[in-house]
Amino acid sequence: MLKARGLILLGIALTVATIIASEKRYSGYKVYTVKKARNDTEYKALLELQKNFKKVDFWSDPSKRRPTDIMVSPEDLTKTEQFLSSHGLEYSVAINDVQRVVEKENVRSTRQSGMNWRDYQRLRTIHDWLDSLAAFNPQVAQTGSIGRSTEGRNLKMIKLSKNPEKKNPVIYIDGGIHAREWISPAVTTYIIGKLMSLSPQDADLLENVDWHIVPVLNPDGYEYTFNEDRLWRKSRSLHNGPNCPGVDLNRNFDFHWGEAGTNDDPCRNTYPGPYPFSEPEANSTASYLFNNRNKIRAYLTFHSYSQLWLTPYGYTEDLPSDYEELESLGLRAARALQEVYGTEYEVGAPSHILYSNSGSSRDYAKGVPGIKYSYTIELRDQGDFGFLLPPQQILSTCEETWEGVKVIARQVARERPSGPTFSDIYNSIVDRDPDDRTKVDVAGIRLR
Ligand SMILES: *[C@@H]1O[C@H](CO)[C@@H](O)[C@H](O)[C@H]1NC(C)=O
Ligand SMILES: *[C@@H]1O[C@H](CO)[C@@H](O)[C@H](O)[C@H]1NC(C)=O
Ligand SMILES: [Zn+2]
Repeated sequence: MLKARGLILLGIALTVATIIASEKRYSGYKVYTVKKARNDTEYKALLELQKNFKKVDFWSDPSKRRPTDIMVSPEDLTKTEQFLSSHGLEYSVAINDVQRVVEKENVRSTRQSGMNWRDYQRLRTIHDWLDSLAAFNPQVAQTGSIGRSTEGRNLKMIKLSKNPEKKNPVIYIDGGIHAREWISPAVTTYIIGKLMSLSPQDADLLENVDWHIVPVLNPDGYEYTFNEDRLWRKSRSLHNGPNCPGVDLNRNFDFHWGEAGTNDDPCRNTYPGPYPFSEPEANSTASYLFNNRNKIRAYLTFHSYSQLWLTPYGYTEDLPSDYEELESLGLRAARALQEVYGTEYEVGAPSHILYSNSGSSRDYAKGVPGIKYSYTIELRDQGDFGFLLPPQQILSTCEETWEGVKVIARQVARERPSGPTFSDIYNSIVDRDPDDRTKVDVAGIRLR
């Protein structure tokens, strides 16, 4: 009897131990901010660091235009510091102990009190909230799903439309494509919350615009960041057996796939997948954007961090032919955002102000379905906390971003076409076969 009880206790102790052990810990990990490379030699040194130090997690990629943040494990600290010093790269410590920052954040996120923007929210809370919005406001809000994730979770979308008969232009928004960027789903849900409770002076935002929003596009990864590894970025697919799961969803789109800013090694954070659209999350997004390209006038995809309002393109330094319009609208949005709390954003194409990347959802949205205003918004901050933005900053980040989104929406409403739209004409000319996106892409560029 006693022996049996002892065994049960031992069993419980072991279970607790495995639960704790399965959660990745970041004790002693540091984040360094490396000053921006001053010349090609320094830039190449950073690239070499990225290539050879496989365990160093680049929170931002090497760039000649901005500082680079890297997270280093305790075992690699000395080696990394030596490498940086010997190449003349100046650095400072942004986070001294990553685990401490993770724990501070987690104390709060375990508090459960329904949907709010004081804490980061679990997937379940977000999805239940969307369903209840739709249930209580069936004349405006509908939930549905654009597909399923690798692990079978819903890629839940909420559609907000007050006047379906008006055939309003649509703004498509997604968040949480990168799992660890928790502020992104917080902002996308805040936008939904605001749209469902508009003040009279903002009523036009729902009168003249429809909104299709997927607040958490990478639900598998998002759950994984709560249960296992706070700093997980990719999807959770298993293309290489159990080793090195996941694909960078924002490199998996079939538009200049696998070119600049990707890494063929499945263990790396910018692995674009074994082939384009290998990931259902990216594929479902693309199908939705493509099939609704007649209606969608703006695509906003929320990431963190760096405070950037990014236009296409990332894969090339060539700019879209209407770049000036995209830049000027982006600048207006950034100005409205800044007026709230003084937060400064930079506006431009990633290949010009950041670094190149290819196979992104933003480039795809612009390059294939031809969605005019396609932007990636890199939310707060500029590296003080990076992905671990403290919960105290959630609400202010949401409030200021909302002002920027309103500027985009009003522009889209103002440009509401009368008569046949560009897309109508365009779609009557080019091949409509959704499986042949390349043909449409080429035709689209020629038409523009
Ligand atoms: C690169 O810049 C650093 C700092 O200004 C300098 O020490 C180094 O000599 C430069 N290297 C080259 C090849 O210009
Ligand atoms: C991508 O979506 C298309 C259209 O919905 C579908 O036919 C295709 O099987 C999907 N591909 C993958 C890899 O999931
Ligand atoms: Zn991201």
